[in-house]
Amino acid sequence: PDKINSASRPELIDFHGVSMVHYFTDNWETVQNFQARPDDILIATYPKAGTTWVSYILDLLYFGQTMPERQTSIPIYERVPFLEIFAPPVISGTDLVEGLSTSPRLIKTHFPVQFVPKSFWEQNCRMVYVARNAKDNMVSYFHFERMNRIQPDPGDWSSYFQKFMEGKMVFGPWYDHVNGWWKKKQTYSKLHYMFFEDLVEDTGREIDKLCSFLGLSPSAEEKKQITGEVQFDNMKKNGMANYSTLPVMDFKISPFMRKGKVGDWKNHFTVAQSEQFDEDYRKKMRDPTLQFRTEI
Ligand code: A3P
Repeated sequence: PDKINSASRPELIDFHGVSMVHYFTDNWETVQNFQARPDDILIATYPKAGTTWVSYILDLLYFGQTMPERQTSIPIYERVPFLEIFAPPVISGTDLVEGLSTSPRLIKTHFPVQFVPKSFWEQNCRMVYVARNAKDNMVSYFHFERMNRIQPDPGDWSSYFQKFMEGKMVFGPWYDHVNGWWKKKQTYSKLHYMFFEDLVEDTGREIDKLCSFLGLSPSAEEKKQITGEVQFDNMKKNGMANYSTLPVMDFKISPFMRKGKVGDWKNHFTVAQSEQFDEDYRKKMRDPTLQFRTEI
């Protein structure tokens, strides 16, 4: 039996109305009382929407030139700590953030918008939200749960498909997550909302948009270098970006850098599932200003 699936998996709990597992709630008080600095940058996503990709882009934009050794010696999940994670003996997200000596601090969260510690809003921090179309997001999350023992056991694909539509996912329903952050953007100007599909379509263009949001102006050469370095194949072989050093995951079941594609859902959804999904989606996603692409 493989180690991951025989190891005990956490149960889904209801936490302030959102499905969670204890690894992301056990440190709640400390996380909620977290003191942000005005230059902190929060990278927020629903799990599997492109967090690592955007984290790596931001890390390179800020530190790629000045601290090249950082890229080859510190895994991305330590450069960009996951705020709410608390899975001893692994160092907690908040402790990792406190230990950062760089400025700005880049901080990752999967919280739905209402869970973000209030200090980030009070300090008017910049935030980058990455969203990915629901179908590909679901497929990616399914494979991630298969290989990651701090997530619940995903079960088989068809039951996972139902659970996703019902929102019985860690960090809650995808629908609420992407909509909640989208609404926030209407009132909070320091939020840059971006899409995985756009990044796949034209990484350079999306880096340009990020730079203008962040007030950065890298040289053309630097941008070209970053764009190359963050391409899927390069990140997949990069031991400091591909999560291969994290012991809770079993890459023999599925690698963290799995496919990196738009439209892989077509290899998983049956025609009937796709129709059922689309009908349910139309009922839940009523805001015409928020549109996703399931192919490019
Ligand atoms: P797949 O499982 O579809 O391959 P997160 O970082 O939020 O956990 O998201 C992981 C997903 O983003 C995985 O999707 C992973 O392969 C994809 N990804 C990571 N880096 C990427 C890159 N440089 N280009 C394309 N996809 C990338």
